[in-house]
Amino acid sequence: MKIFVTRKIPEKGLDILRKHHEIEVNPHDRVLSKKEIIKGLKGKDGLLCLLTDQIDKEVIESKKKLKMISNYAVGYNNIDIKTATRHKIPVSNTPGVLTDTTAEMAWALLFSTTRRIAEGDKFTRDGKFKGWGPMLMLGQDITNKTLGVIGTGRIGTAFALKSKGFNMKVLYHDEKINEKLESELNAKKVSFKELLQKSDFISIHVPLLDSTYHLISEKELKMMKETAVLINTARGPIVDEKSLVKALKNKWIFSAGLDVYENEPKISEELKKLDNTILQPHSASASIDTRTKMAVMAAENMIKGLKGEKPLNCVNPEVFKE
Ligand code: DGY
Repeated sequence: MKIFVTRKIPEKGLDILRKHHEIEVNPHDRVLSKKEIIKGLKGKDGLLCLLTDQIDKEVIESKKKLKMISNYAVGYNNIDIKTATRHKIPVSNTPGVLTDTTAEMAWALLFSTTRRIAEGDKFTRDGKFKGWGPMLMLGQDITNKTLGVIGTGRIGTAFALKSKGFNMKVLYHDEKINEKLESELNAKKVSFKELLQKSDFISIHVPLLDSTYHLISEKELKMMKETAVLINTARGPIVDEKSLVKALKNKWIFSAGLDVYENEPKISEELKKLDNTILQPHSASASIDTRTKMAVMAAENMIKGLKGEKPLNCVNPEVFKE
């Protein structure tokens, strides 16, 4: 069969696909337009796409015989799952393999924001360091503080567990009780309001859904402590970027560490000018090992799906029901 891959992914994944099928990979190192994806899909049976591709109704329905969509990401808000399901097209994602890598980025952002690492680096390189100063680059301690975790699925749980060693009080907000966090960290499930008000550091780990769009907006930012740090490695539109700029400018909170943005790849110009932010290019899962594992997983999902079997990481298993 024939597969269209919307952008080059690690070779190990492409090799697996080549062993079983014919593949066409986007030759450019850039995101394809919708028109280009539709063109690439011509005569193909499978689509291996990225979180930067909007696989909407028009794309899905541009093909009569699309048999499988494999997303190279754990998040799949870029795909119109309802339409795919209606057409009995299985969709898969890449959960698990990027959990620790993403949780580590959340911690990297937490350390960098609390200790003003990017600001300090720039200050030093710019020749402004004239010697040790009692009031120079004062930040926030992490040890003994309160960590607030919004969403304790795989990544939120891994993020919280990595607080061991810092003697933190862990609060979390989720629909379900997280027994692992409660038994290992004595973590406490609290209301969203309580988490916002009592946490020193808040890290977001929920998927982007209608219900989580702008979950953090002006009202929520105003509830946080003035010393609070907000970390977002989930999806940009969960935070209202305009309100966040306002909060950072007016020092309603101490700082923010962001890996994702509301209108990627566009980033608010105002946000870029602020010192109290650390900005990363949506690279939380970007380690060599993890991206290779994601490629293998996406390829294996594709192969199963093209055989008419349920991929291991199928997000719409209802397509296999009679
Ligand atoms: C994902 O897989 O959803 C991540 O955002 C990739 O970095």
